[in-house]
Amino acid sequence: MKITVIGSGYVGLVSGTCLAELGNNVICLDIDKNRIRSLKKASIPFYEPGLEDLIQNNISKDNLSFTNSYKEALSNSDVVFLCVGTPEDKSGRANLSYLENAVGCIAEYLQNNPRNLVLFIKSTVPSGTCNLVQKRFEQLLKESSSQVTVASNPEFLKEGAAIQDFMSPDRIIVGTDSKFVEDVSEILYRPVNWKSNRLKFVSIESAEIIKYASNSFLATKISFINEIAKLCEKVGADINEVREGMGTDPRIGNSFLYAGLGFGGSCFPKDLKALENTFLDNELESLLLRASLDVNNLQTEYFINKILAFYNDQDLSSKVICVWGLSFKPETDDIRESISIKMIKTLAYHVKHISVYDPIATDNARKELETISNITFQETSNKAIDGTDALIIATEWREFWNIDVEILSKLKDKVIFDGRNILDKEFLTSKGFSYFGVGR
Ligand code: NAD
Ligand code: UGA
Repeated sequence: MKITVIGSGYVGLVSGTCLAELGNNVICLDIDKNRIRSLKKASIPFYEPGLEDLIQNNISKDNLSFTNSYKEALSNSDVVFLCVGTPEDKSGRANLSYLENAVGCIAEYLQNNPRNLVLFIKSTVPSGTCNLVQKRFEQLLKESSSQVTVASNPEFLKEGAAIQDFMSPDRIIVGTDSKFVEDVSEILYRPVNWKSNRLKFVSIESAEIIKYASNSFLATKISFINEIAKLCEKVGADINEVREGMGTDPRIGNSFLYAGLGFGGSCFPKDLKALENTFLDNELESLLLRASLDVNNLQTEYFINKILAFYNDQDLSSKVICVWGLSFKPETDDIRESISIKMIKTLAYHVKHISVYDPIATDNARKELETISNITFQETSNKAIDGTDALIIATEWREFWNIDVEILSKLKDKVIFDGRNILDKEFLTSKGFSYFGVGR
């Protein structure tokens, strides 16, 4: 199939590349000229394991190309995936201006070049958006013989595992009332759907809600376990034991029950707020979503308080703190809504200096933290810990899990604040360290 992908970010680039890998002919469009220039050379603007090789491979097979031009992108396509960003606006709702702009550009092209298109909206958009986009096309194309059929096809990939998520989806949701769109979807997704059927056709309204409800539910699980973790600390229980004990019940499940610093990233915080506002816009109030957000916001403060409490009678402004991990989670260089960055911004006021290390996200973090003067970025975890008093683990990168105790022994105060519960508390305590996790 000939496919156009509009918006070449995490979702667009992964979807476009994977669709090319499945044998389609894909052209990815972006308004960012630098991004397209780099992509033409198979250089990607962010870190996503396996993606660069896949892009290179499909460029050389002539399955994948890149452009800034709507004319070039749409001249040969039957199917378009819309994957532009829908970031949070000032009111906490989804900013749909990128999407509206893309819709305007598609319509302008179709006014002069009549053809019929199926448009799958992969961007996360609030209830009613796909129908509004459908009406907008009908209005803009009323003098033309072109037709656009809009469907909702929300994306569920996780950064860091995006290719695997696209190629082995646990569900493919398509919101449509068109038999033609159903047929197109079946052909498109057949290569990743033939072993067992994951394709689910639902109404457009349901598809839009499925996306927000899924992210909100997962985020709520995290806030729930973080709240329980606080109680564990008070009563002497261990959150890891509690998680395992709960998670073996298949009705609960053991994923997304890891207590820590809370959830970050470009999606959970914004999608919860957008859904909360959708409730309000429909004269309803969501008590649960507000609680999940509040618990999450308080989690950073709660963790920083552990550090302040440990140094209770000492002068924290003379201390040098090491922070391992800057990205919002491992296997990505994405620092959008990273709890580590949020924590560093607060801690910088309290301490003498902060020495930080991240395997991948340093360049992005450097830009975000450039106004903070008492911070040094190091190239290895080992260098970052040199000359520091205490260690904070903010992101659970694999290389931090089995760290040599000799390296940790460089810490002058022999204290570790493990924000992701990855180190062995008993072992470290037996070696004379003070260890603070979350809920342990
Ligand atoms: P992103 O910011 O990484 O990428 C968006 C891209 O769209 C940018 O490269 C931008 O330059 C481009 N763009 C903006 N306006 C454009 C226009 N008019 N025409 C062409 N290109 C345009 O965003 P993302 O993380 O890929 O997210 C995209 C959407 O998918 C969002 O709605 C997000 O909520 C959703 N989503 C994201 C993820 C994720 O893991 N990042 C997962 C599932 C769903
Ligand atoms: C999330 C969803 O998992 C995807 O299904 C969805 O497509 C995507 O949002 C989106 O809509 O953008 P992502 O943001 O890449 O994916 O990251 P997650 O793996 O979900 O982690 C989100 C945050 O929750 C991270 O900060 C992570 O550290 C935290 N988390 C996750 C926990 O604190 N505990 C857990 O048990 C799991």
